[in-house]
Amino acid sequence: MAVFAKDECKCIGCNDWVICGLVGRPQHVVKQPKTGSISSAGKSYRFISSEETPEVLAHGRRFSRCLPVIPQNADRSGDSAANQQPRLVERVSIGQNTGIATLRIRLVPILPPPQLTTMSDVDDYSTDKPFRVQFTHRLRFARDILGKDSAQLLQLLEASEGQTARVQFWIDRQVAQSNPELLDRIEQFTTRHAEQFQVCGKPHLVDGGEAIKNDVDVLRNMLRQMNFADLDRRSYVVVIGGGALLDAVGFATAIAHRGLRLIRIPTTTLAQADSGVGVKNGVNLFDKKNWLGAFAVPWAVINDQKLLDSLPDRDFRCGFSEAVKVSLLKEPAFFHWLHQNAESIGNRGPECSEAIRRSAHWHLRHITEGGDPFEMLEARPLDFGHWSAHKLETMTQFELRHGEAVAIGVAIDTIYSGLRHGLSDDAVELVLEALQKLGLLTAHPALDRTEELFTGLVEFRQHLGGRLTVTMLEDIGRPIDVHQVDREAMRQAIESVRERAATLQTR
Ligand SMILES: NC(=O)c1ccc[n+]([C@@H]2O[C@H](COP(=O)([O-])OP(=O)(O)OC[C@H]3O[C@@H](n4cnc5c(N)ncnc54)[C@H](O)[C@@H]3O)[C@@H](O)[C@H]2O)c1
Ligand SMILES: [Zn+2]
Repeated sequence: MAVFAKDECKCIGCNDWVICGLVGRPQHVVKQPKTGSISSAGKSYRFISSEETPEVLAHGRRFSRCLPVIPQNADRSGDSAANQQPRLVERVSIGQNTGIATLRIRLVPILPPPQLTTMSDVDDYSTDKPFRVQFTHRLRFARDILGKDSAQLLQLLEASEGQTARVQFWIDRQVAQSNPELLDRIEQFTTRHAEQFQVCGKPHLVDGGEAIKNDVDVLRNMLRQMNFADLDRRSYVVVIGGGALLDAVGFATAIAHRGLRLIRIPTTTLAQADSGVGVKNGVNLFDKKNWLGAFAVPWAVINDQKLLDSLPDRDFRCGFSEAVKVSLLKEPAFFHWLHQNAESIGNRGPECSEAIRRSAHWHLRHITEGGDPFEMLEARPLDFGHWSAHKLETMTQFELRHGEAVAIGVAIDTIYSGLRHGLSDDAVELVLEALQKLGLLTAHPALDRTEELFTGLVEFRQHLGGRLTVTMLEDIGRPIDVHQVDREAMRQAIESVRERAATLQTR
C-alpha cells in the first residue's frame, strides 16, 4: 500500500499532520482540516475536503462518520492526486478500534501567487489614464413651448426603464407675474399629458434676479423641496426664468444626488443667447460672483420666443452684449450684421430672434467643440470683457445688470485692444457704435473708481487660478490671450468709456 512519508503529509496551512494512512498509528491521524495544503514529491497541493469527507481522530478526539471500507491499494502519490479527482485515501484508526475509514479529499495544485517583489512592480499600478465622457447638449428653439410647440418639451421628458418621468417645475416669480396665464398653461400641459409624465406638486415660485444668488437660504430651500418630492437622478427639474434663477436652480440640481436632469427654459435674452446654453451653475458667496458653483451639462435648453414678450426693455437689450461679445470672438460677419441691425434689435425689432439664435449657436459650439467645456485651461475666451463686468456688478451692488456691465467691459477691452494689441481704430469705433446703438453703453459713477475696478483683474485671476489670462482682440474675429495688462493703457481705456457713456447720457 502506498503510504506518504511523514513529512510529505504535513499541512502547509496549519502545520498539522493530515490523513496519511498509517494504519495503527492514530497519532498520525491527527486532524482532517477542511482545507489546507500538502507537500508531496516536491509539489504543493491545496487540500479541499469533499462533502463526504469523514471526520477522523485528531488529537485524541473522536470524530464521526468513519466509513467501513477502503481499497487497500489506494494510490495517493502526488502526481495522480493532481488530477483533482476526489479519491479514496486511507485506512485510519478511530479511538481504541483500528478500523477502516475512507476519506475523500481532493488535491488541487497550488498556483504560485503573483510575485510583487520590486518597487517597479508596485509602481506599475500608478498611472495617468485619460478618459472621455460623452455628453449630449440638447438645444431647442420654440415659439410657444407651452402651446403649439409643447411636443418639444414632452419629447425631452423621457421615461426611464418603463418608469414615467417625474417632473418638478421652478418658476421665476416676476415671469409668472408678467405672464398671468403661465401657471394655468403649465397646469393644462401637465394635465393633458398626465399619462406621459408625473408632475411633483405645484410649480415652485421664486423671486428672480441677482438677489436669489446672494441668499444661501434660497438654495437650501430648493434642495429641501427636491428631497421632499423624492426626486432622483432620473427626475426632471424644469426651470423657467432669468439667468439668475437658472444659475441657482442649476446649482441645486447639480448637487442634489450629484445631478438631476435639468431642463432650462430661459426667459431673458441674455440667458437665451448665452448663460442658459452654458454648463456653469452657481450662486454668489463671500461677496463674490459665482464663488459656489458646479459645471453640469443641462439635460436640455429650450429658447422660447414667446416668453421674452414680457421682458422689460432694459433687460431685453442686455442679452445682445453677449451676442456682440461672441461675434467679436468667433464670426466677423455676424458682428457686422449686428452692427448694421443694432438699432432695430435695440428696439425689439424682428432681427432679435436671429441674433439670439446665432449667439446661442456660437456659445453651444464653443462648449461642445472648443475642447474645454469645463474651463480647465487658462484661457476663457467667452469671458472677453468680463473681468471688469463682474467687478462692476458687485461695485454697483448689481444696479448694473450683467448685460450692461458686459457691454461696458467689452467696450473697455476693445479700446485697450486698440491701444495695446493693434486692433484698428475703425474696428474699435464699430464696436462702440454697435453697443451704443443697442442702447447698452450705460454711464455709472462706479466707472470713476478705477483703482477698485482694477482689483477685478486680481479676482478674475484668483477665480481662474494660475496666471492672469484675459482675452483681447488683434482684429474682429481674431482674439488673443494676454497675461499682462498695461495699467496706464487700461486706465485710459476705462476713462474713454466713462466719457463716452456720460456724453450719451446727457444727449
Ligand atoms: N451660468 C453662466 O454661464 C452665466 C453667464 C452669463 C450670466 N450669468 C448670470 O446670469 C445672471 C443674469 O441673468 P439675466 O440677465 O437673465 O437676468 P436676471 O435673471 O437677473 O433677470 C432680470 C430680471 O428680469 C426678470 N425677468 C426674467 N425674465 C423675465 C420675463 N420674461 N418677463 C419679465 N421679467 C423677467 C427677473 O425676475 C429679474 O428680476 C447673472 O447672475 C449672471 O451672473 C450666468
Ligand atoms: Zn456674461
